[in-house]
Amino acid sequence: MSNKYLTIDDLRNKAAKRIPKLAFDYLDGGAGTEANITRNRRGFDNITLYPEYLRDVTDRSQKATVFGKEYDAPIGVSPVGLANLIWPKVDSYLANMAKKRNIPYLLSAVGTTSIETIANIAEDNAWFQLYVPDQDNICFDLIRRAKESGIKVLVLTVDIPEPSKRLRDIRNNFTLPFKMTPKVIMDIALKPNWAISTLLNGTPRFENLVPYMNDAKDGTSLSVAQALQVSARLGEDFINRIRDAWEGHLVIKGILTKKSAEASVRIGADGIIVSNHGGRQLDSGPSSIEVLPDIFKTVGSKLTVMLDSGIRSGPDIVKAFASGAAITFSGRSFVFGVGALGEKGGNHVLDIMVKEVDQTLAQIGCDNILKLDESYINSS
Ligand SMILES: Cc1cc2nc3c(=O)[nH]c(=O)nc-3n(C[C@H](O)[C@H](O)[C@H](O)COP(=O)(O)O)c2cc1C
Repeated sequence: MSNKYLTIDDLRNKAAKRIPKLAFDYLDGGAGTEANITRNRRGFDNITLYPEYLRDVTDRSQKATVFGKEYDAPIGVSPVGLANLIWPKVDSYLANMAKKRNIPYLLSAVGTTSIETIANIAEDNAWFQLYVPDQDNICFDLIRRAKESGIKVLVLTVDIPEPSKRLRDIRNNFTLPFKMTPKVIMDIALKPNWAISTLLNGTPRFENLVPYMNDAKDGTSLSVAQALQVSARLGEDFINRIRDAWEGHLVIKGILTKKSAEASVRIGADGIIVSNHGGRQLDSGPSSIEVLPDIFKTVGSKLTVMLDSGIRSGPDIVKAFASGAAITFSGRSFVFGVGALGEKGGNHVLDIMVKEVDQTLAQIGCDNILKLDESYINSS
């Protein structure tokens, strides 16, 4: 592994130098003051891991099993909409890496590569994330396409009842197709590698939504895609209809309270992802790691509890497992990796995480990540 990029922050800094500011800000930014992003980091940093020595930890395992499938590492790729804007082919690079390294890859409904293409690349490592648009026919057609592509896990994201106020995007006048103001032209001109790659690969399109974009047939309209991802009508009745339409595993993403977790159980979900969307929705909300232990104690015996938001290292993953997570995900970490290093970036991120998880397990005297529990984060 290169000594140049030892942490996810190193990759983030490199990505910031290679990507136009408006694309980097779209990836890096969050809602409002971005206090929720800070809180995500603080949540992990405030947890102490207690080392138990005097144990034989020669053989160590970090395999995680979810819905009967064993994965080789305890972290997967969160759904990231419009990822190919950050660097062309991000979706397929990461899906390919996920297949080869045997971790889950979650394709966003507003992804820039189609369900059919990703299912072909990642096969049973591909999960599909659904947003519920206003038009029922689009929602149920996406479910049909996921099923026909052989996807086994559907992830329903429920935390966008209304678009959040993302100051960086508003200040950058971020829209697709780009408004070619002098500021945007200068921004792009300063990143020639990105500009050439994007020119060669074409403007990223919302490939999953192209068939439904009547007023924007080329699939590049950000405003249409945004309208298709916002839904205020995700009450239990509506989600029950999705449950009835989907025979595979159903996961609810965006859970942060015990009540929502209990509602997920009532709906018949097979799993939840405790997530605050990487700090992109409710600026004043909790970090996902701080609410995980209570949620796990409440519903952990009834469904699979997973976590994302703020994971940037192996110790973070270990802390999440000790708090009840069956697996973790990260969005930005992997996309920063590709933004910084291109195709090999996803592998590099996973190498960092896997090595650090292994080192951490050894230090705390745990030979199997599945044995982690609260005793490792409580000093008593
Ligand atoms: C640029 C960007 C786009 C995202 N798009 C989606 C999306 O389309 N669907 C979704 O469920 N979550 C989306 N998310 C949230 C991620 O799935 C995930 O919850 C979040 O990135 C986790 O936090 P982390 O980036 O700190 O790891 C997005 C996040 C980012 C940064």
